[in-house]
Amino acid sequence: MTTRPADHPETELAIETHGLTKRFGTQTAVDGVDVAVPRGSVFGFLGPNGSGKTTTIRMLLGLIRASSGQAQVLGEAMPRSLDTVMPRVGALVEGPAFSPFLTGEQNLRRFDAADRHSSGRTRAQRVATALDRVGLTHAAKKKAHAYSLGMKQRLGLANALLMPRDLLVLDEPTNGLDPQGTREVRALIRSFAADGTTVFVSSHLLAEVEQLCTHVGVMSGGRLVAQGTLDDFRRSGARARVQVRTPDLESARGVLTSLGIRTDARDAASDREVVTGLLPDTASPEAIVAALVGAGVRVRGFELVGESLEQRFVELTGEGFDVVA
Ligand SMILES: Nc1ncnc2c1ncn2[C@@H]1O[C@H](COP(=O)(O)OP(=O)(O)OP(=O)(O)O)[C@@H](O)[C@H]1O
Ligand SMILES: [Mg+2]
Repeated sequence: MTTRPADHPETELAIETHGLTKRFGTQTAVDGVDVAVPRGSVFGFLGPNGSGKTTTIRMLLGLIRASSGQAQVLGEAMPRSLDTVMPRVGALVEGPAFSPFLTGEQNLRRFDAADRHSSGRTRAQRVATALDRVGLTHAAKKKAHAYSLGMKQRLGLANALLMPRDLLVLDEPTNGLDPQGTREVRALIRSFAADGTTVFVSSHLLAEVEQLCTHVGVMSGGRLVAQGTLDDFRRSGARARVQVRTPDLESARGVLTSLGIRTDARDAASDREVVTGLLPDTASPEAIVAALVGAGVRVRGFELVGESLEQRFVELTGEGFDVVA
């Protein structure tokens, strides 16, 4: 990765960080993150709860200061260029600061008025369009304190959409939405991307990232443990697994272990007659079958299966992910 001078903002990266770090007291919440988000991508920022996604996003948006490291957003150093960069960035971060006693519409008008690049003449139209785009027109006159979580989330999105943006930074935008709302928000994100907007979207839902994103970065314990295109990611995780179906589970496990294959502990917990493990470089499938049969294991099925994206994430983060049906 090359560093570019700050007076040359039109780089091909919408977001670029080097060693970005945030410490809270003795805890390092974000630890030396080098993330590269290509322009025009939909970049899924994935990681379990507490892995540092929101903290990273807050630093990118200049809401908190980094303890060390650098961040460039749309080619400009943050937070130094906050005033010139932020008008081009729409953001939705955890707990948007809406006034509970104003209606949704009034809240948006207030945010729009606070943006010195927005014209008062076209404000009403802008607010109405944004409300319509997130499906909140019917609740425009309702006070924000009476909004459900999903409605607040939509209002936050509407706020991010008031102006045309080059970059949208969305922190868990489908949090609290029902399935219909989730589908709508995903469709919205796709439509922004189709308009050429770069979208940086955090999620702890693997399936969501798979459906939406062109690129993915995986956070674990404050570190960025992997990043790249979704396709690269799939390929890098495409290690074959051996799957043996047999009633002789114990002896099958013993043979596989003797061949250097670590068998999957989850099989032992299930009552299926299946043993799986990663195919090693040292043994061919034929040799494995021969060894099993030679040891008297009744092999009723033998298959090589690709590793799923979910298994890859679990390997990277050491944690399970919520999986949406
Ligand atoms: N203001 C703060 N003061 C102290 N610790 C904080 C603060 N903000 C975040 N942390 C800690 O930093 C770590 C990362 O938190 P962060 O909110 O960035 O995680 P996340 O990946 O967004 O998680 P989630 O999926 O739950 O939203 C957590 O351990 C959290 O407790
Ligand atoms: Mg978060």
